[in-house]
Amino acid sequence: MTLKSLAREISELSDYQVYGRVSGVLGMLVELSGLDRLLAIGSRCTLIARDSRQVPCEVIGFRQGRALLLPFGSLDGIGLGCKALLAQSEPSIHPSDAWLGRVVNALGEPIDGKGPLPAGPDPYKVRNMPPPAHGRQRVGGKIDLGVRAINSFLSCCRGQRMGIFAGSGVGKSVLLSMLARFASLDVNVIGLIGERGREVQEWLEDDLGPEGLAKSVVVVATSDEPPLMRRQAAYMTMALSEYFRDNGKDVLCLMDSVTRFAMSMREIGLSAGEPPASKGYTPSVFAELPQLLERAGPGILPEGSITGLFTVLVEGDDHNEPIADAVRGILDGHIILERAIAERNRFPAINLLRSVSRTMPGCNNESQNDLVTRARQLLSTYENMAELIRIGAYSAGADPAIDEAILYHDALEAFLKQDKFEQSNLDLGYEQLAAAIGLAWPEGGDGSGAGEFQDAGLMGTDA
Ligand SMILES: Nc1ncnc2c1ncn2[C@@H]1O[C@H](COP(=O)(O)OP(=O)(O)OP(=O)(O)O)[C@@H](O)[C@H]1O
Ligand SMILES: [Mg+2]
Repeated sequence: MTLKSLAREISELSDYQVYGRVSGVLGMLVELSGLDRLLAIGSRCTLIARDSRQVPCEVIGFRQGRALLLPFGSLDGIGLGCKALLAQSEPSIHPSDAWLGRVVNALGEPIDGKGPLPAGPDPYKVRNMPPPAHGRQRVGGKIDLGVRAINSFLSCCRGQRMGIFAGSGVGKSVLLSMLARFASLDVNVIGLIGERGREVQEWLEDDLGPEGLAKSVVVVATSDEPPLMRRQAAYMTMALSEYFRDNGKDVLCLMDSVTRFAMSMREIGLSAGEPPASKGYTPSVFAELPQLLERAGPGILPEGSITGLFTVLVEGDDHNEPIADAVRGILDGHIILERAIAERNRFPAINLLRSVSRTMPGCNNESQNDLVTRARQLLSTYENMAELIRIGAYSAGADPAIDEAILYHDALEAFLKQDKFEQSNLDLGYEQLAAAIGLAWPEGGDGSGAGEFQDAGLMGTDA
């Protein structure tokens, strides 16, 4: 740690300590008395357990003149009368470029055993407000995400925010790792929220791999961590993305999953005594989701942006559950992964007909749009007749449109299938798509289509 940052930390210490006492513990909820006039929602305290262990806590409510707190760690050893010290309230971090390649927890502490993290010069608030809507840049030109199906059918622009909706085990994590490795953006900030502990290491080593990790910062809060840690991990992911964006980088922010963030908010809300609204989710969950997701997107400065891809778990493949519904309304598009497609072993299992990117067709040139529209038509014609075709009830020659859809179906399926270590790019994707459906494709197209985008009339803050 440099002398300068040490001096800064010393100057941040206060000259005196204020403390209260624990007056009740119920489940994960701690009641505190003695500090009521000094505390507000979001204030931090440090509890001192009987064995002198320190447990950081955050105020989540007040009841009958007492503050209610939830811990960031285990409450073992906390009992009546334990001391509670007032801590620095607005948590901030000092990230630097040296955080790339590292894995941190929700508090920004390294958990990869690679030693301490070098501190950067500027503090970044972990819990921040989105940039003001009127001051934001517009969504930029098309970006290359390295996944054929998304590049061509669901093109994404710099600063766009997309949701990946899927049930469990349909391929979200693998798809995220492909995006992290292949996307042509400068850095990745990856939030793994509420994942099973065992899977995190596997994902980091097998799916993301060393090259992927080298251009990423990964924030991890596993499912066994307290809800405050899981919630904080989402804020930390956004704060780190904001740091890189403010330094002129195009950031790819990946979060797996927003649903687990919402679940942690639900646990916090219910502990504080909030009434459950839909599916047990409390009203504060729905107020907090846009606050979090709006932090991604283009910034105030022309340089730097946060392109966000957020996974949403749809329980029992119910795409209308409340979190999926709320998130769909906030983001600029959704990619739907479907179990039936995964079951026939076509990965990534994207149902293109149900997925949308709201920056399309504005970000494409005319020939790209024509190509994609044509391919979509073929897919949808086949989809409508799929059952009949499968049971052999359709006889060839009855409808030329269906005959065509059948003719190109296998090639289209092959186009959409992509192995997790196979990288694609924009130009190659269009070329292969054209080839798959028997269209001539002009060579040497730049694929970016960025020039046309200005007329699309889409704002970066579009909900
Ligand atoms: N592109 C791909 N190529 C080949 N197989 C894939 C691909 N994507 C996913 N799979 C298969 O699907 C399985 C489940 O994928 P993954 O772990 O990404 O699902 P998930 O949606 O993240 O699951 P969970 O909800 O449990 O986190 C993988 O173990 C792998 O076998
Ligand atoms: Mg997963």
